[in-house]
Amino acid sequence: MENLESKTASHSKEASHIPVLLEETIDALNVQPGDNAIDGTIGGGGHSAEILKHSSPSGQLIGLDSDTTAIRHATERLQPFAGRVHIIQANYSKLKQIRDEQFPNLPIRSVLLDLGLSSLELEDRDRGFSFLNDTAPLDMRFSKEGRTAADILNTAPKNFLKNILSEYGQENYTRQIADEILRVRQKQKFSTVGDLVAAVLRVYRETLHSKSDIPWIGGRHPATKTFQALRMAVNDELSHLENGLEQAIDVLESGGRLAIISFHSGEDRIVKEFFRKESRDCLCPPEVPVCRCGHHARLKIITRKVVQPGRNEIKHNPRARSAKLRVAEKK
Ligand SMILES: C[S@@+](CC[C@H](N)C(=O)[O-])C[C@H]1O[C@@H](n2cnc3c(N)ncnc32)[C@H](O)[C@@H]1O
Repeated sequence: MENLESKTASHSKEASHIPVLLEETIDALNVQPGDNAIDGTIGGGGHSAEILKHSSPSGQLIGLDSDTTAIRHATERLQPFAGRVHIIQANYSKLKQIRDEQFPNLPIRSVLLDLGLSSLELEDRDRGFSFLNDTAPLDMRFSKEGRTAADILNTAPKNFLKNILSEYGQENYTRQIADEILRVRQKQKFSTVGDLVAAVLRVYRETLHSKSDIPWIGGRHPATKTFQALRMAVNDELSHLENGLEQAIDVLESGGRLAIISFHSGEDRIVKEFFRKESRDCLCPPEVPVCRCGHHARLKIITRKVVQPGRNEIKHNPRARSAKLRVAEKK
C-alpha cells in the first residue's frame, strides 16, 4: 500500500498547481504516521498528497475546497490514497461543523490553510480571475454562490469600491478607478474581463499621461491590483480567514499544529495578530494591575520568524514569491 501510494502520487500529472513552501510546511506541521489532518484549501491536492505520504499507513485527511474544479482535481490526484481521504466541497469557515457532524471522533493533529487561488483557477478561461482572458465573464467566485465581480462593479457604491481597491488591492488610484467604474456603468454594464481591464487602463494612461497601450508599473500590469481586490471582495476572503483560524484551534487536539500560507499583507496581518493574541495569557492593557480578562493562551508559536520561499523556489514557481508561512501549536 505504502509503495503504491507514494509512487502513484508523485507521478500524477493531473494537477498543474505547484504547491508552495511544500517541504517547509510539512516539516513545520510535523506530520507523523497515523496523524489525521484537515486541509481547508485542498486545491490541486499537492500539500495533501505530501501530508498523506507522511501520515501513512492510517492517517485520515479531510480536504475542503469551495471550488468544484478543485474538488475534481484533488479527487483525481489523491486517488492513490482513496481509503484515507474525505474530500468535501465546502468553505473552510465551516470546518468545525464538518468535523463535528461528519467525523466526530477523529482527533486532528494538523490543519492547513493555503490561501488565495490556485493556478488551476487562475488559468481557467471561464472564471474571470485573470486579466489576460479578455472575453471571460467577470465572475471570480470560488464557489457558485453569492455576488459575482460583475454584480459588485455594476451596483456597489463608490465608497465601497474605493475601500476594497485600497484595502485589498493597495491601489494608488482608488478614486480615479472608482470614478471610472461609475462613469462606465452608467452607459453599459460591466460583463467581461476586457470591460474592466479597459477601464483600468484608461485611468492609468490618463493619470500617468502615458501613450502606451499598457503602462506597465514595475513589471506589473496596471489591472493586477484591481483584480486582486475584486476577487478578495467577491469571496469575502479576510472574514473567512478570521473564522477559519478560530475553528482550527477548536478542532485541533493538544500538541496539534496549524499552518497558514498567505499571499497578501492583509491576510498575513490577521494570522500574525491572531497567533500573537492566542499565545498570550492575559490581554488586559498594561495599566491594569491584576488580570481581569481571564484569557488563557491557546497556542504556542512555532515559526518565530515568518517563513518565505528561497530564490530557487521562486525561480521555479514565480507565484510563490509573495508566500508567507506561519505555524502554531495548540497548547
Ligand atoms: C492556493 S490554492 C491551494 C492549493 C493546494 N494547497 C495545493 O497544493 O494544490 C487555494 C484553494 O483554496 C480554495 N479556497 C479559497 N478560499 C476558500 C474558502 N474560504 N474555503 C474553501 N476553499 C477556499 C480555492 O478555491 C483554491 O482551490
